[in-house]
Amino acid sequence: MTTNIDWHPLVTAALEARQRAYAPYSGYAVGAALLTADGSIVTGSNVENAVYPLGICAERVAVARAVHEGHRRFRALVVATVNGGTPCGACRQTLREFAAKLPILIVDAQGRTVLETDLAELLPHAFSPQDLPPA
Ligand code: THU
Repeated sequence: MTTNIDWHPLVTAALEARQRAYAPYSGYAVGAALLTADGSIVTGSNVENAVYPLGICAERVAVARAVHEGHRRFRALVVATVNGGTPCGACRQTLREFAAKLPILIVDAQGRTVLETDLAELLPHAFSPQDLPPA
C-alpha cells in the first residue's frame, strides 16, 4: 500500500504511548498515534480496570482525546504492540465514525512494520454515519 504519510514520527509517538499503557491484568501494552488533518499527533494507550470490561483500548483513547481536542479528521494511525496485534473490532468501528479509508501501520515493540493496511481493509462493508437517515 502506497501512502505519502511520514510514518516515522507517528511510530515514535506510538512506541512512547505504549510505555504509558496501564495493563496490569493482561500485560499487553498498546500504544496508538493518530495523525490529524492539521498535522497534529494525538496518542493513546490502553487503560485497564479491576472490573475487567471497563478497560479501554489505546485506539479509542486516542480517538476520544483527539475529538475532545477538536480533531475530527484523521490522516493516519500507527498502533504499537509487542507482536503486531491489529485493532479490535470495537476500535475499527470507532475509527470508522471519523474516517473511511484511514491508512494504518501496525508495528511491533521495536517499531518494525508488521502490517501496512487501511481501515477499509480492516472493516469492509462497514456501517457508517451515512447509513443513518437524517434525524
Ligand atoms: N487492546 C488495545 O488497546 N487495542 C486493541 O485493538 C487490542 C486490545 C488492549 C485491550 C486490553 O487492555 C489488552 O490490549 C488485551 O486485550
